[in-house]
Amino acid sequence: MLTGLALTLHLLGAVIWVGGMFFAHMALRPVAAATLEPPQRLTLLAGVFSRFFPWVWASIVLILSTGLYLVGLLGGFGGVAVNIHIMTGLGIIMMLIYCFIYFVPYQRLKAGVNEQNWKAAGGALAVIRPLIAVNLSLGLAIVAIARWGAVFG
Ligand code: HEM
Repeated sequence: MLTGLALTLHLLGAVIWVGGMFFAHMALRPVAAATLEPPQRLTLLAGVFSRFFPWVWASIVLILSTGLYLVGLLGGFGGVAVNIHIMTGLGIIMMLIYCFIYFVPYQRLKAGVNEQNWKAAGGALAVIRPLIAVNLSLGLAIVAIARWGAVFG
C-alpha cells in the first residue's frame, strides 16, 4: 500500500518535471523563437518559468523522498540493482543542474526582463536552453533505465 503510494508519487514527480521540460523545449521554445521579437519572447519565457519552476521544486522533493524511501524498502543501496544506482546518480545530476539554472541564469533572466535589458535576458536564456536540453535527455534516459530493471512489478 505505502509502496504503491511512494511509487505513484515518484512517478508523478517524474512525469510533471520531464513532461514540462519536453513541452517547453520541444514545442513552446521553437514557436516562441520563430514568431516573437526578443522583448515579447523573453517576457513570455520568464513568465512560463515562474509558473513551472515551483512545480519542479515540488517534483524534486517528491522524487527524492519517495526514491530514498523505496531504496530503504529494498534494503538500502547495498542491495539494489545497478539501474537504481544509475537512476540515483543521474537524478542527482539533474537536480544539481536545475539548482544552477534556478539560482544563476534564471535570476539573471528575471532581472533582465524587469529592467528591460534584453541583451542580458537573452544571454541568460542562451545559458538556460542547453541545460534544459541536457536535463530533458537525462530525464528520458532515467525513465527507460528505471523501467528496464524494475523490481516492483
Ligand atoms: C534521485 C534519486 C532517485 C532515487 C533514490 C530513485 C529510486 C527509485 C526506486 C527505488 C524505484 C523503484 C525501483 C523499481 O521498481 O525497480 C524507482 C522507480 C522509478 N523511478 Fe526513480 N529514483 C530517483 C530519481 C528518479 C528520477 C529523477 C526519475 C525520472 C526523471 C525517476 C524515475 C523513475 C521511474 C519512472 C520509476 C518506475 C520504474 C517502474 O517501475 O516502471 N527516478 N526509483
